[in-house]
Amino acid sequence: MLLSQKKIVLAVTGSIAAYKSAYLVRLLVQHGAEVKVVLSPGALEFITPLTFSTLSRNPVYSDFTEDKNTGEWNHHVGLALWADLMVIAPASANTLSKMASGQSDNFLLATYMSARCPVMIAPAMDHDMFLHGGTQENLAKLKGFGHSLITPHTGELASGLVGQGRMAEPEEIVQCIVQHFHPDLPLQGKKVMVTAGPTYEKLDPVRFIGNYSSGKMGYALASALAEKGATVQLISGPVHLQLSHPSIHITKVESAREMLEACLLHFEEMDMAILSAAVADYRPAEMADQKIKKSEDSLQLDLVKNPDIAAQLGQLKRPHQHLIGFALETTKEKEYAQEKLIRKNLDLIVLNSLRHEGAGFGVDTNQISLIWPHNISQDFGLMDKHKVAAIIVDAAIDLLKKTT
Ligand code: C5P
Repeated sequence: MLLSQKKIVLAVTGSIAAYKSAYLVRLLVQHGAEVKVVLSPGALEFITPLTFSTLSRNPVYSDFTEDKNTGEWNHHVGLALWADLMVIAPASANTLSKMASGQSDNFLLATYMSARCPVMIAPAMDHDMFLHGGTQENLAKLKGFGHSLITPHTGELASGLVGQGRMAEPEEIVQCIVQHFHPDLPLQGKKVMVTAGPTYEKLDPVRFIGNYSSGKMGYALASALAEKGATVQLISGPVHLQLSHPSIHITKVESAREMLEACLLHFEEMDMAILSAAVADYRPAEMADQKIKKSEDSLQLDLVKNPDIAAQLGQLKRPHQHLIGFALETTKEKEYAQEKLIRKNLDLIVLNSLRHEGAGFGVDTNQISLIWPHNISQDFGLMDKHKVAAIIVDAAIDLLKKTT
C-alpha cells in the first residue's frame, strides 16, 4: 500500500467542507496511512470527533486538556513531531490568517507551529473570502514558509454562489499526498481502464452462455496499476473476486453490450485501456421472457455476433491513448496475434499460451508473450498472474512514456 507506515496529522478547521475530510480519512487509512485528526473549535461546530475517531481508529484531539479535574492533557509538540506530514483540510480563512501570523490560540494551531514535517494546505471558503487580498497575502506567506497549497476548485459553493473556493476533492488530496511521498511513481496522474472476467449472455431468465474466465488477470492488473500511481477504472464481468483500493473504481457489468457501454462512457478520459476480459463472441439472438421449456429432443439456438469492444476502442483511439489487448490462439499463435493487433488498432497484445499446463483460465499462473507491431515480440516462462501483471504494467509504462 502506497501510504503504509506514513504518519499523517489531519487538521480540520471550521468549514462546511469538513464533511469531505471524513472521507479523506477513510481513503488515507485504506491506503495504509496512520492518521491522527485534530479539530479546531470551529470544526467542532460542523462535525463530531466520533466520526473521525471511528474512521481513523485513533483518538481525536481538539483541546489542550482532556480532563480538567485530573489535569490530563494532550501533548501538541509530541503529536507534531510524530507526523511525517501535516495536512490542513479544510483550511478556513481564519486559520490561514492565524497560521500566517504565528498565532497559537488553539490546539490545532499549537500543533501546526510545533510541526517540523512538511505541511499541505487545502483551503475552503467562499469565493470572495478566497479572493480577498488578506487571504491571498496569507497564502503567499504560507507558500513562502515552504508549505504546499492544494488549490480550491471553482464551482457551486455552500453559500449558493458560484466561484472559486470549493475544497479539492478527497481523491485529489490523496493524489497530492501520494505524490509527496512517492514523487517518482511512473503512473501518477494517469488514468487506465481495465476490462476483466467473462461476460454472461442471457438465454432466458435463469440461463446464460458464459465462459470460465475468473477475472484474476484483470484484477491483478488493476492492483498493479494502482500501486504504480494510476487511477483505475475496472470494468468487470461477473466474477467472485473482491478488490478494495481507493484508486480503483469498479463498474460491474454482465453482458458484452453492457461492457461496451461502460467502456464507451469512460474511454475518452483514459490514457490507456487494457482489455483482458474474455468477452463472449456471440449472444442469443433473442432472450426468452420465460424459462425455455424442456420439450423437444434437441434445441437450436440462434446466436448473433457481439460487438468487438477492443476493435471499437481501437477506432476511437486518439494519438495520446494506448490500447493493450489479449489473445489466446491454438495455432500460428504469433501470426494470428500480430494480425489481431493490426486489425483492432492495438499498441500491444498479450498472447496467452494454452500449451502449458497451469496457463489460462481459472488458474493462478500464466505463460505469455508480448507482441508489438512489426513482429516484435518477447516470450516469458510460466509464472504467477501477479508477476505477469507486473510485466504487462512495465510494458504499459513504456508505451505511456512515448507520449509524454
Ligand atoms: O478477437 P479475440 O476475441 O481473439 O480478441 C481478444 C481481445 O479482444 C481481448 O483483448 C478481448 O478482451 C478483446 N475483445 C473485446 N470484445 C470482444 C471480443 C474480444 O474487447 N467482443
